[in-house]
Amino acid sequence: MKIFVSDTPSEASKLAAAEFKALIRLKSDAVLGLATGGTPLLLYRELIEACGRKEISFKKIRTFNLDEYVGLSASNPRSFRSFMDENLFNHIDIERENIRVPNGISPDFSATCAEYEAAIKKAGGIDLQLLGIGSDGHIGFNEPMSAFSSRTRIETLTPKTIADNAKFFDGNPEFVPTRAITMGIATIMDSRSIALLAFGESKADIVARMVCGDIDESVPASVLRRHSDVMVFLDTAAASKLPSSILIRA
Ligand code: F6R
Repeated sequence: MKIFVSDTPSEASKLAAAEFKALIRLKSDAVLGLATGGTPLLLYRELIEACGRKEISFKKIRTFNLDEYVGLSASNPRSFRSFMDENLFNHIDIERENIRVPNGISPDFSATCAEYEAAIKKAGGIDLQLLGIGSDGHIGFNEPMSAFSSRTRIETLTPKTIADNAKFFDGNPEFVPTRAITMGIATIMDSRSIALLAFGESKADIVARMVCGDIDESVPASVLRRHSDVMVFLDTAAASKLPSSILIRA
């Protein structure tokens, strides 16, 4: 695990964006794993701008999002699919058929989950997976005590995650769906490389547990230390509880 620390979220996002841009230039049909939430917004802006300047093209890029709320259709303005359209897909030259976000309103979730796993495999696997981290240590919506062997499935969100995500639902936790369809931990770990971003003081404790605590299911993100190619991009606040000897100042 390489841990890069920048002064600000904006600088950290630029650094992470450079990894995505380098991959896209090297492999024009790369498979990207994407995340929603507040953390990737600046990174997405960097990619949109680079695409606008024609430095990179998403024409042949394929994407798989980590998760979607159960009960929200793709057209629901609160769905992760709408979030991705607004914050990335509508502003780049990606082909719509190359975008995959789990279906939150499937009539048969077990078939949908199996099909999502199969689609990732058929695409050749994920080259670079983007992750945020929940304040409870979740990656995707794999909440604490999710099995490290888990695959795409339905997960029940913890009260902490529901409270954290109320910011996207008019601040009202009662509006936040209680379940999500998420790539599993093993699905995420199959990615060839992983970039995890975390910003702000509110993430400092969980980042320290991910990096320095035990590797076990109580902090799902701790599993990433078993992956051979993980880059962690932090701002100073999120890195504030880590020993400085393990940080790469960027
Ligand atoms: C989003 C996702 C989540 C978020 C995490 C952090 O698709 O899978 O794991 O990355 O909840 O969210 P923010 O970035 O809003 O702090």
